[in-house]
Amino acid sequence: MALLILSCNSDERDRNYQYMPNMYTPVGYEAYGEGDIFENGQEAKLPVEGTVIRGWLPYEYGDSLAGYQAAKAELKNPLDYTKENLSEGAELYTIYCAICHGDKGDGQGWLVQQEKILGVPAYDDQGRAITEGSVYHVMYHGINTMGSYASQTSEEELWQISHYVMKLKGALEGKEPRVELDSVPPIVQDVQYGTVTNILNDEQPAGGALEQDQTEQTANKTEE
Ligand code: HEC
Repeated sequence: MALLILSCNSDERDRNYQYMPNMYTPVGYEAYGEGDIFENGQEAKLPVEGTVIRGWLPYEYGDSLAGYQAAKAELKNPLDYTKENLSEGAELYTIYCAICHGDKGDGQGWLVQQEKILGVPAYDDQGRAITEGSVYHVMYHGINTMGSYASQTSEEELWQISHYVMKLKGALEGKEPRVELDSVPPIVQDVQYGTVTNILNDEQPAGGALEQDQTEQTANKTEE
């Protein structure tokens, strides 16, 4: 009789016996818990120095005036100027930037109209003379009251936005739009290594020759 009572538990969810308890109670350490392996008793550790974040290459232009100026002068967008990259860029721009900079990039976003933020420039501001490299740089590091976007985006996404911002700048300046390429499979974007490979034509060096063609195309267009 006593055995019968013992074996019947009033709480059905409470198991009397745990077979293979490791399945219920993990032996691994909790990521942010305490542990006795490391010196300070803390489980979570910072990544090893020099760790490269997935989707990002080390960015060598520092968060300084010199870094800004260098990026502005020499940093080029590794992505092709394709319709696909531009539409991705436009979408991301609407999510992250338009609230301050406005849909057209004229610096008249909603927050500016509500007078919640001051000093948002238009992209055709002559004093700033932004370039695709400087746009990338300020999104990566932030600039004064504008924060960094590096933690919420990938490297590729920032370059897509950069293309789109330059498109808005051109429109504000009344320039003839740069020719947008069709997005076709031959051009494979390898984001991890930051290279552009043309799989149909191996002899054509990555990026360089291709991009030059485009620039020439655009240049010719503007001259016409
Ligand atoms: C919270 C409002 C806000 C948001 C959102 C914002 N910006 Fe800005 N942005 C500013 C302000 C303010 C400045 C002027 C900063 C300064 O130089 O004092 C600025 C400056 C800039 C400049 C000019 C920097 C230069 O070289 O002088 C660019 C380009 C730019 N932003 C791009 C972007 C892009 C792209 C995004 C979206 C990823 C974005 N901003 C999102 C407020 C914002």
